[in-house]
Amino acid sequence: MSKLVLGMVGFGVVGSSVLKAILANGEIINARAGKQIVLKSIVVRDKAKAAKKLADMNANVALSTNVDEILQDSEIDVVIELMGGVEFAYTIAQRALKAKKAFITANKAMLAYHRSDIAPLASGLPVGFEASVCGGIPIIRVLKDGLSANHILAIRGILNGTSNYILTQMQQFGKNFATALKEAQNLGYAEADPSLDINGGDAGHKLLILASLAYGIHAMPEDILIEGIADITPDDMEFANEFGYVIKLLGIAKKNDEVELRVHPSMIKKESMISKVDGVMNGISVIGDYVGESMYYGAGAGGEATASSVISDIIAIARGESAAMLGFSRPLEEGKLKLKDKGEIYSRYYIRLYVRDKPGVLGQVSQILGRHNISIGAFLQKETDKKNIATMLFSTHHCFEREINHALCELEQIESITQKPFKMRLEDEYE
Ligand code: HSE
Repeated sequence: MSKLVLGMVGFGVVGSSVLKAILANGEIINARAGKQIVLKSIVVRDKAKAAKKLADMNANVALSTNVDEILQDSEIDVVIELMGGVEFAYTIAQRALKAKKAFITANKAMLAYHRSDIAPLASGLPVGFEASVCGGIPIIRVLKDGLSANHILAIRGILNGTSNYILTQMQQFGKNFATALKEAQNLGYAEADPSLDINGGDAGHKLLILASLAYGIHAMPEDILIEGIADITPDDMEFANEFGYVIKLLGIAKKNDEVELRVHPSMIKKESMISKVDGVMNGISVIGDYVGESMYYGAGAGGEATASSVISDIIAIARGESAAMLGFSRPLEEGKLKLKDKGEIYSRYYIRLYVRDKPGVLGQVSQILGRHNISIGAFLQKETDKKNIATMLFSTHHCFEREINHALCELEQIESITQKPFKMRLEDEYE
């Protein structure tokens, strides 16, 4: 049996799991690959720590602190980048492809910025990135292969496990954001610096990768609307519960004449399939014009799930999949579809206001909303534990994002409103 020789950069949670899987499932992996998969060397920061890990796994792999050693090793066929970060990881991709090695990465942040730069560099070499979006869910192959007969009308995904865990804890057990976040950190879901998990950045990176596959659109994170979950309160959870919604951080891509890409907390109907994706799990609904809706659910993070996707790329390369695996060139739509302006988003909204509880305030609020063409759907007012302060919670009928933004700016100026108004989009029907 011929060999496929690998060099890996990074030996953290995912890297260790890749080696573990090769050791444990080697027989089936080799049989499916049609080649013997050999991990020849790993580039690490701390050699002594990595050597101990290897000894614990009873594994014999060369260690180095110098990435050149694998880039210049003519025996190595595939470079696997599992270290994270953006620019240095991109340099490794460039150098690996220049050295005519196939390249595999789990790095969504790097691909969010450099996926369009990598595609032309690949020129015939395979580039695998199944592990970059939703860990163990093979969503890249779904878009690239399984649904390739379809125009993709919409993608709605819970793309970040940490934020989904936090929102589930808030919704089901009434916890506040800070407590739920602390728990997610203790359980090892959130990073020590969890900002990209909770500010929507991580989900944004993943959405951009999916949008490239679905639409050939090469937007950057700065070009799209990305909001996180840090401002969500138990009041919002209560309103959602009262009116039959749950709150999820969704990555949304929709195509009409233009492509709409956004990541934000959304109120979605309790009975929708995606609302049932709880805890640290990920879920993605894809609507194709021929297939209709299909739904994918699974572990979006964690060493073993992510390693499962990395190894699927290794096997695909061993089988001789070509550069088309990258999937980013879609001549039909490439460059033709434009990104929709954020102000043109047309949605239903939820609004939370803290107001002085005195005569006439509700009238003032509804007048301002009315002047901006915003029609109220549901309404809930609650007293708070602060004297003379009430919470007003509304849902609206459809309006444009620019209208709601103007109305909220005007509301903020009213003396009776005591805190910056908060809005969330309702994603309760497929348009
Ligand atoms: N921090 C990410 C999450 C890990 O919570 O989903 C997987 O990308």
